[in-house]
Amino acid sequence: MNRYIALEGIDGAGKTSVSTALALLLEEAGHEVVRVREPGGTAVGEGLRKILLDGPPVTSWAEALMFAAARAQLVVEVIRPALDRGAWVLSDRSVYSSLAYQGAGRGLGMDRVRRINQPGLRGTWPDVVVLLSVSPAEGLARQARPDRIGAQGVPFLRAVAEGFARLADEEPGRFAVIDAGCPMEQVVAGAWDALGVPG
Ligand code: TYD
Repeated sequence: MNRYIALEGIDGAGKTSVSTALALLLEEAGHEVVRVREPGGTAVGEGLRKILLDGPPVTSWAEALMFAAARAQLVVEVIRPALDRGAWVLSDRSVYSSLAYQGAGRGLGMDRVRRINQPGLRGTWPDVVVLLSVSPAEGLARQARPDRIGAQGVPFLRAVAEGFARLADEEPGRFAVIDAGCPMEQVVAGAWDALGVPG
């Protein structure tokens, strides 16, 4: 069954609102829901989040490795235990953000970034990726205060969006691509369908 769900998209796509709505629907259907965000969700991950989003400049590889480190900790401390006891995990971002932002956006290569993430994930990849698609200009306009990475500008976010689109093409069974420009109820309905909740 699909229980590890990742919400993805460029900055300003509206992932958090959609995740909140999905969590309510899942709970109404009687399921335990664990919500996480990347980077973050553990003491180590929150520390790395500060460095990554508000800290000093870092090289692209250092950035990619810190995202992978935060994720490795989150998988072991939170995601795997939740899935093992039958809960649903709703994650604001996942390894697919690293493939798109560091692999495509920073130009490190999606395959190379995939390889540095694999050992820490231990096979725990999202079952379903809900990709909220929005244009870079609109995404930036929706953000109150862009973080260090989201503030890279339109050409960077365009490369990230292209990375996400390529990933969705490569794995159509795992990805549900939803136009985030639609009214919220429509976006949530599309995302809910993609979850395949039984009953
Ligand atoms: P997030 O808190 O989701 O910000 P937003 O709500 O603006 O989308 O994500 C934090 C930032 O970190 C965002 O700019 C995307 C970036 N990021 C990466 O570059 N690589 C990653 O692996 C992850 C998880 C996030």
